[in-house]
Amino acid sequence: MSLSPSAETVRPSRPLALVTGASSGIGAALARELAHDGHDLVLVARREAPMLALAEELAACQVKITVLPANLGVIDAASRLTGELVRRGLAEVDVLVNGAGFGDYASFAEAEATKLAEMIQLNIAALTALTRTFLPGMVARGRGRVLLVGGLVGFAPGPGAAVYHASKAYVVSLGEALDHELRGTGVCVTTLCPGRTWTGFQAAAGGPDSVPHRPRFGTMLPADVARQAYQALQGCRRVVVPGWLNKLRAAWLRLAPHPLTFALAGEPRREDK
Ligand SMILES: NC(=O)c1ccc[n+]([C@@H]2O[C@H](COP(=O)([O-])OP(=O)(O)OC[C@H]3O[C@@H](n4cnc5c(N)ncnc54)[C@H](OP(=O)(O)O)[C@@H]3O)[C@@H](O)[C@H]2O)c1
Repeated sequence: MSLSPSAETVRPSRPLALVTGASSGIGAALARELAHDGHDLVLVARREAPMLALAEELAACQVKITVLPANLGVIDAASRLTGELVRRGLAEVDVLVNGAGFGDYASFAEAEATKLAEMIQLNIAALTALTRTFLPGMVARGRGRVLLVGGLVGFAPGPGAAVYHASKAYVVSLGEALDHELRGTGVCVTTLCPGRTWTGFQAAAGGPDSVPHRPRFGTMLPADVARQAYQALQGCRRVVVPGWLNKLRAAWLRLAPHPLTFALAGEPRREDK
């Protein structure tokens, strides 16, 4: 679904931010940044309860917060969400944060096919559809910000999580190209490339930090990632890699031959070994 500027509604008094993946982790932390900076919010994810709790936590910011539970991992979810936003008069989005995403640590042949399809739908298709829906209005108004949550993993292929890495490579590629296309329009696209971050992500992906007692060395807190991401978004930076260690990792992943990064990462995890 694409919105013509005329289909949009009267602009609310405060800028409006739509945040997907707002029920936990980096998305929730970004919603906090935006609310504290005076944005009305639309929070989207599947779980309603943590988003309602976040809205209550942010009540002191005195911004309007709308919670819209939605599964963005199914076909047409983005257009249904857009229809609901139009119906509620919330279609004039000033800041779009595409935060929803998940990974899966399994070799390609052993991974559940339905899970891979859902990952592609969420990490790639929904992110693309929502960005395509709200960018034209931003360009017509001559202002707007889009944050795409990619990942360090987008800088190199990842045996053992091949589709997840590939999905984030798509996000990085899309974000860099869009931001270049939009030069001079007043609209910027910033791609956030976090490294390992202390969220529900690892548990959901069955990753090496699934049940840790404390973060491993080099793991960042979502609030720190979100703060750096929000500063980069405000400053129209094209790509932001939060944390000095992640910046080193990014440089390495971008420059090193892939077979060398594979060898250093070790064997992909296999359930039967
Ligand atoms: N944590 C890391 O180490 C790390 C590193 C690099 C990049 N990232 C990226 O950062 C983003 C946020 O992840 P996180 O670390 O904050 O993990 P998280 O705490 O697990 O958050 C993931 C968010 O995505 C939402 N989500 C998942 N599936 C969804 C679906 N089908 N429909 C709608 N929303 C869905 C989740 O909400 P519900 O479960 O309520 O739907 C949750 O709000 C992801 O794109 C991830 O790939 C994370």
